[in-house]
Amino acid sequence: MTIDDDPGSQELAFDEPSAPHRRRFGRRGPGAGSMSRTRMAGFTGLGCLALFGLMQVVPYGRTHSNPPVTGEPRWASTETRDLAVRACYDCHSNETNYPWYSNVAPVSWLTQNHIDEGRSKLNFSEFATNPGEAEEAVEVLAEGEMPPNYYTWFGLHGASKLTEDEKLQLIAGLKATPGFTEGGGRGSDDGD
Ligand code: HEC
Repeated sequence: MTIDDDPGSQELAFDEPSAPHRRRFGRRGPGAGSMSRTRMAGFTGLGCLALFGLMQVVPYGRTHSNPPVTGEPRWASTETRDLAVRACYDCHSNETNYPWYSNVAPVSWLTQNHIDEGRSKLNFSEFATNPGEAEEAVEVLAEGEMPPNYYTWFGLHGASKLTEDEKLQLIAGLKATPGFTEGGGRGSDDGD
């Protein structure tokens, strides 16, 4: 079948009244019209592959940096820390575990973006100097907003999924850890 048989190309010409001579795939010269669908599909496929290849060259998201740990919270217990490590540390610490697919664009870009954003809001590894939005931690946990649900899609990060009991345990642990409740005993807040 040639492209001329395709009623769709007629429609396309209608959609672009300002450039009626421009048809699909920029066909101009004579002869080009006989390109078969299969060949076009082949070119499109090659184009996608080339694009995919180019995406891998973009430096963003490839560094997988884990800056130094400068000061963790004064955890109420090691259990609390362990739970936080499991459920939160990939995005809220400088001890991120980067899975293999985080090497592959565009997933690597999304991962990097979530980690950058997560760290900027709350970074357990730099807690001593910047508690960020730690005071929200109990709330987002209780409301089930964190960890974000996309994190465990496709059965990924299974270990980060907390049972209801573990969630309550983490909430209690955070509440007992200085800095995670309002005015929470960091000592530097208003009048305590
Ligand atoms: C997959 C990455 C990821 C994981 C895992 C994760 N977070 Fe987040 N977190 C984010 C991102 C991204 C943001 C900023 C954007 C937003 O608010 O949705 C954020 C924001 C926050 C905030 C700031 C308040 C807010 O709603 O913006 C708090 C507090 C927080 N997270 C706590 C936690 C806690 C506690 C855990 C573990 C139980 C956790 N997060 C697990 C990615 C993550």
